[in-house]
Amino acid sequence: MLSFIQSPTTPFKPLFNFKTLKPTKPHFSKPIQSVLQWNRKPQLAGETPRVVVITSGKGGVGKTTTTANVGLSLARFGFSVVAIDADVGLRNLDLLLGLENRVNYTVVEVLNGDCRLDQALVRDKRWSNFELLCISKPRSKLPLGFGGKALVWLVEALKSREEGSPDFIIIDCPAGIDAGFITAITPANEAVLVTTPDITSLRDADRVTGLLECDGIRDIKMMVNRVRTDMIKGEDMMSVLDVQEMLGLALLGVIPEDSEVIRSTNRGYPLVLNKPPTLAGLAFEQAAWRLVEQDSMKAVMMEEEPKKRGFFSFFGG
Ligand SMILES: Nc1ncnc2c1ncn2[C@@H]1O[C@H](COP(=O)(O)OP(=O)(O)OP(=O)(O)O)[C@@H](O)[C@H]1O
Ligand SMILES: [Mg+2]
Repeated sequence: MLSFIQSPTTPFKPLFNFKTLKPTKPHFSKPIQSVLQWNRKPQLAGETPRVVVITSGKGGVGKTTTTANVGLSLARFGFSVVAIDADVGLRNLDLLLGLENRVNYTVVEVLNGDCRLDQALVRDKRWSNFELLCISKPRSKLPLGFGGKALVWLVEALKSREEGSPDFIIIDCPAGIDAGFITAITPANEAVLVTTPDITSLRDADRVTGLLECDGIRDIKMMVNRVRTDMIKGEDMMSVLDVQEMLGLALLGVIPEDSEVIRSTNRGYPLVLNKPPTLAGLAFEQAAWRLVEQDSMKAVMMEEEPKKRGFFSFFGG
């Protein structure tokens, strides 16, 4: 049976069975609905706003899904969040959030003086402390002269808003390592590197780690997405421990492959809002909690015999 094992330093104790969502310890008897059940707001570590870029190198590994779900989880914890879709030309964060019909202005219009910054910010109706900001219209090209400096200006403008600085600014980075990537990472002081457990994604993630470090971003945590225990057992997929050893990064979260993710993408309704919760939704929520408290996972899931190493050992042990 799979169980969710937290690192001993993890401040909250949602020790639950990953399949049944029932707690593995008797301190809580009902199935887990949300980490918010622990009736505690996570303690925000570090200076605010925390400017976090969600990046990967390889495309299609789950950056936008992570931005939407981690961003909304942070808002549900009570923090003010601005999510910036920096995927110029191929933006889709608005679709995942179901906010596509409400994006009238983008950062490009703000910079051109055609609208104010607050007109370009789209406030989520479900969580009013969550706002979306898109850099440009779909299918448009990166405007000439638009670069990291423009995003730094944007972050400064968000900090000095009348209603106060947001707690988190989350930047959804485009795939690749060209101009769009450089622009997206420029204002960030921390990064979440999303990877899937396959060699192509890992090679790109490794390259991106080096580039982030060159840019002065030392706080890099990784999110391993689309993990399949059946394939790891059959030695057809790398374990998270293997991924950790290859990248040498702190582990923020592990998200299982879950068809609910695709369903929620198509519905424009982020997974973390689903009731009853899904495995992947809870995993995103827990990752958001760790992001707030600057914590990381050590061991995550194990098969029936926790002491046994080898291919039964999923993440460590
Ligand atoms: N854990 C998961 N289980 C199942 N499907 C997933 C999971 N994570 C992401 N996906 C699916 O993978 C696809 C790509 O996800 P997403 O758009 O978040 O990736 P991306 O890294 O932002 O892509 P791009 O590089 O194009 O911006 C989506 O259809 C999404 O629903
Ligand atoms: Mg994306």
